Amino acid sequence: MLRKLTIAAASVLALSGAALGAEQAHIEDFAFSFEGPFGTFDEHQLQRGLQVFTEVCSACHGMKLVRIGELADEGGPHLPEDQVRAYAANLTVIDKETGEERPATPADRFPANTAAGAPDLSVMAKARAAFHGPYGLGINQLFRGIGGPEYIHALLTGYTEETKEEAGTTFYENHAFPTGWIAMPPPLSDGLVTYADGTEASVEQMSRDVSAFLMWAAEPKMMERKKAGFVAVLFLGLLTVLLYLTNKRIWAPHKGRKSA
Ligand code: HEC
Repeated sequence: MLRKLTIAAASVLALSGAALGAEQAHIEDFAFSFEGPFGTFDEHQLQRGLQVFTEVCSACHGMKLVRIGELADEGGPHLPEDQVRAYAANLTVIDKETGEERPATPADRFPANTAAGAPDLSVMAKARAAFHGPYGLGINQLFRGIGGPEYIHALLTGYTEETKEEAGTTFYENHAFPTGWIAMPPPLSDGLVTYADGTEASVEQMSRDVSAFLMWAAEPKMMERKKAGFVAVLFLGLLTVLLYLTNKRIWAPHKGRKSA
């Protein structure tokens, strides 16, 4: 038993040490609206992020785990149903039964895209945790999030102008990417998209919006989870009080008596 515990403790320490070691660049923290125990997604930001993803990122990246219909969900981009249907119809998916290409419907998932060798972005915001602190314990994640969206933002804004060629591939210097050189060309430039709500499309703005959108994509039910968690904690609090009172009542006749 003790040996097992020691081994477990040692491996946890080793793992967190590895996680800390992997942390290279400094990733700046933002107060995204969805952080903290009561954080919620900003619908308008998610809609802008969806636009950036659609017009820019999806040229190279897929998002094959996210169902298109979820764009209509409350607690997400919350687009009207007809807009979601129109959005889906613009995408092409491969039918599972016939194996042929056809326009997507809201019941389908976003297409995969591996043409450029780019990773799928469905759960990227949760796969790249930038904050592990304090001391690798991860407790501050409760308040600041795990830093995935911050990492994506840092990546999109972390380019220098430097490039290098290696084995026929061009690499772009990027301070947020762990190796410092990434095969993704800088995808954003000022004014690249025209936001429907008139927000100025600076690189900073677009990268924040798309990072928030990718966080939603990675956890579309986040707001429901937080609500359920809040109710559960409230309920457990009530249960604690009731159990305490019950306990007092059960033992009241025996308290204060001298044992015979
Ligand atoms: C021209 C194609 C292209 C476009 C457009 C593009 N990417 Fe990429 N992206 C790539 C490639 C290729 C990689 C793999 C890079 C590597 O591993 O060196 C990548 C990797 C990534 C990664 C993973 C980095 C990591 O830590 O492994 C993220 C996150 C990412 N892209 C986000 C985005 C976002 C957000 C957009 C839209 C604003 C976007 N990309 C647009 C080609 C692209």
